[in-house]
Amino acid sequence: MAKTIKLFGLNTGAKIPSVGLGTWQAEPGVVANAITTAIQVGYKHIDCAQFYFNQAEIGSALKKLFDDGVVKREELWITSKLWCADHAPEDVPKALDKTLKDLQLDYLDLYLIHWPVRMKKGSIGFKPENLDQTDIPSTWKAMEVLYDSGKARAIGVSNFSSKKLQDLLEIARVPPAVNQVELHPAWQQTKLRKFCESKGIHLSAYSPLGSPGNLNSDILKNQVITEVAEKLGKSPAQVALRWGLQTGYSVLPKSTNEARIKENFDVFDWSISEDLIAKFSEIKQGRLLKGTGFVDETYGSYKTIEELWDGEL
Ligand code: A2P
Repeated sequence: MAKTIKLFGLNTGAKIPSVGLGTWQAEPGVVANAITTAIQVGYKHIDCAQFYFNQAEIGSALKKLFDDGVVKREELWITSKLWCADHAPEDVPKALDKTLKDLQLDYLDLYLIHWPVRMKKGSIGFKPENLDQTDIPSTWKAMEVLYDSGKARAIGVSNFSSKKLQDLLEIARVPPAVNQVELHPAWQQTKLRKFCESKGIHLSAYSPLGSPGNLNSDILKNQVITEVAEKLGKSPAQVALRWGLQTGYSVLPKSTNEARIKENFDVFDWSISEDLIAKFSEIKQGRLLKGTGFVDETYGSYKTIEELWDGEL
C-alpha cells in the first residue's frame, strides 16, 4: 500500500513532500538507479543541483519512469539550484534552461540560489581568485522573472543566514519560499528556525544524517539518538529524520543504496514522544559544512566564515 507522505505548505500555496532524495555526491553512474529505486519505493521529491554534475543522468532516469508510466511529472517535486558562477542576472535564465534540458523537464517545482556567493562566470573549482563580489538583489530579481515565467514554480535560497534572509526580504517582490540549509540533531539551527517560522519561509534540511560518508560526522552514533532508536525499534537514521519532520522541516537524505533508500522513507507512520524529543536538546551542536572555499582575505565578499554565516556558527 502506498505510504501517506507528510507534506509541508509553502508561502506559494504549494505543498512540498517532507522527505526528498538527496543527490549530492551520488555518482553519475549510480544516481539513475537510486532515482528509479526511490520513486518505486514512493519518494515524490528529488533534490538536485547543477553543481552535483549528475543532472543529465537524473533526467534520463526520470524520462524512463515517465515513459514506463511509473509516475507522472505532476506527481513529483523536483528542486534544483543555481550555481555561484551563474549569479550574473543575464546568466540566471540560461542556467535554468540548461538544468531543465539536463533533467528533461519543462519546469522545476523549486529553484534555489545555491549559495549567497558569486563566482566568476565560467570559473571552475574553489580557487580564491574565482570568487567575485556577491550581489544578491540583482540575482534575486532574475530569479523572480523565472518565477513569473512559470519555469520555476517556487524560488528560494540555500545556505542563507537569518541576516541574509532579512536583507533579501527587504528587496524581494517575491519572497523566498524555502531556505535549504545544513540541519540535523547536531546542528539544530534554533535561531534560523525561529526567524524562518516568523517570516513564513520553509526550511529544508540537507545532510539530515550529518553526511556520515562525506563529512565524517558520527551523529548516527550519538548516545541520545541511539538510545531513542533502541527504545522505538528504529534505526538512528530514521530517528534523525523523524526528529526533523516533527521539528517542522523537510529532510533530504542522500543514499544510493536500496536498503537505506527504503529505510529513510519509513518515517511516516510512527513518532517520537515529546519526552524523548526533549532529550535532543542535550546533543552537542556544531556546523559541519563551513564553506571555507567561499571565503578569502582578498577575493570575494566574505573575508571570514563568520561573515559568510553572519555569526551563525
Ligand atoms: P549511501 O549512499 O551509501 O547510503 P546525508 O544525507 O546526511 O548527507 O548523508 C548521506 C550519507 O549517509 C551517505 O554517505 C549515505 O551513504 C549515508 N546514509 C544514507 N542513509 C543512511 C542510513 N539510513 N544509515 C546510515 N547511513 C546512511
